[in-house]
Formats: sequence, structure tokens, C-alpha cells
Amino acid sequence: MSITSLNEGQSPFARLKVTTTTIHDKKQRHEPITCLTAYEYATARLVDEAGIDMILVGDTLAQVVLGYDSTLPVTLEEMLHHTRAVRRAVKTAMVIGDMPFGTYQGDAKEGVANAVRFVKEAGAEAVKMEGGDKRVDLIRRILDAEVPVMGHIGLTPQSLHKMGGYKVQGKDLSGIERLMKDAVALDRAGVFAIVLEGVPREVAAMITREVSAPTIGIGAGPECDGQVLVFHDIVNLSFAAPAKFVRRYGDAAALIRRAVEQFKADVESGGYPSDAESYHLPKETRADLEAILKRKEMKMHR
Ligand code: KIV
Repeated sequence: MSITSLNEGQSPFARLKVTTTTIHDKKQRHEPITCLTAYEYATARLVDEAGIDMILVGDTLAQVVLGYDSTLPVTLEEMLHHTRAVRRAVKTAMVIGDMPFGTYQGDAKEGVANAVRFVKEAGAEAVKMEGGDKRVDLIRRILDAEVPVMGHIGLTPQSLHKMGGYKVQGKDLSGIERLMKDAVALDRAGVFAIVLEGVPREVAAMITREVSAPTIGIGAGPECDGQVLVFHDIVNLSFAAPAKFVRRYGDAAALIRRAVEQFKADVESGGYPSDAESYHLPKETRADLEAILKRKEMKMHR
């Protein structure tokens, strides 16, 4: 690392900002790429400080934060609002905004304008969209507008109704051919990375070898260039039975439940707040106040 590559005021030991170049170089060096979702300031800050490469403000926001039962209802305004909060928290990781259902599947001009809003209004450094071959024209236009694009193929949750449910993709020969065609099309279009979701390990490995863009797997096995998971899944905050590929690294639900129950018990028993947790009057004001109260009491007893 040269001193000239540091940002102004940055310690030589600080981590360098992650960019599309960092992600590309990591694939070249066979260094695993890390990605997690985040949707607001506190968790985004923790994820960034832990050194994760990319933070995806995923449309899973719809489910894990807003309580919908699929990703379909989340709006562009909601995605932008949450991306802004993440942006304010993150110093090093690359922040990617997920284009929600209905904001890029129609008119290409509108798709480009919506992608640009993630960068201009919310501080994202790239956008992600679902779909392969059929998105190539749009992806080229978005890249022409200087916005990096992350592709997403395999089990694409925005195609829930078309797929007939959340189903692993690429399990037969025609499915494998379709996935490979989509991955190559995205790669040629110039995406900086491709999310492979719900794909057999063997197929993800073949795609990873074939394309120059880094593959980021979720339920796609260990041969991908990187891995992404939903933050709420890894800390047990998603109130759903975990998918096969989810590994839980903590139990935030238990931690929060315990804390809230303890607070309730303390308030109800009078154990909270204590004197040490209270503000006090300055000595002189207290003496003056006591004198006034005493005079008032004496007057009442006359
Ligand atoms: O929206 C999301 O969180 C995603 C990841 C699961 C890749 O698309």
C-alpha cells in the first residue's frame, strides 16, 4: 500500500475503501469476497467495522424489516430511504442498492433513471438487479450512465410467481444451460459481480470458472468467489425457519428478548431507575428548595 493511495487524514493502518476494482482483484487473487445485507445505520456500521467487503441494501428489507411475506411490495422510495441510512454508517465497504420489483423490468429509460437515483440520492456505489440475458440491454445503458451493476441469477425472488415458488434453479440439463447462458450474458455486458442464488454447487462452480466477473453465492456452494447472506438470518432475527444454506452466528433474538424482559421486570419492581441513574439538583439549589418547602410547611401548620 503506498502512502499516496491513502485518503486525506487516514491512518496508514486504516482499511482501504472497497471498490469494484477491489472486488475484481480479489477474484484474480482467489481471495474470498464477503458480503452481507444491512438496512439501517446501527447494523450497517457494525458490518462495516467488521471488515465485510460489500454491503447490500437488499430488497429482503421487505421481509426482515418491513414484515411483508415476499420482496415484491417494497418501493423504490423505501429502498432509497434505507440505503441513505446505510450510507451514513459505512466508511469502507462498497454499498450496493437493490433495485426493487417493478422499477427496472419495464421501460429502459425509467430503469436507468431509477438506478441513477440510488447513486445520486442515496449514495450507493452500485445497483443490483435480478435476471440474466433479458437484462443485458438495460445493464449496458446503466453502465453508460456510470453506475456499476451487480447481476443476480438462479433463484430470483422477484420471479416468485413465475417460478411457482422459491425453487433451486439449474437442476436439469436445460436449466444448467439457461443459467450458464445468463451468466455469460451478464459477464459480457460488464457486471462487476454476479449473485448466484439457490443453485446446485456443481453448477455454481462451473459458472465461477467460466465468467470473469466474481460470483457471489447464496445457497450456491463453496466454489463461488464470495458469499452473501441476509444479516437477520445469521443473527436469528428473521422469524422464519432458516433455509438449508443459512448458518447462524449469533442469537440476537434471545439477547434482545432477555434485555427487554429484564427492563420490564426492573420498572415493574421499582428497581429501575436507581439513584445513580437519576439527575440531581446542584447542592445550592437543593438547599434553597428545601428551605422554601420548610417555610411552606411551617406556614401550613400555623
Ligand atoms: O435482497 C437480498 O437480500 C438479496 C440477497 C439475498 C442476495 O438479494
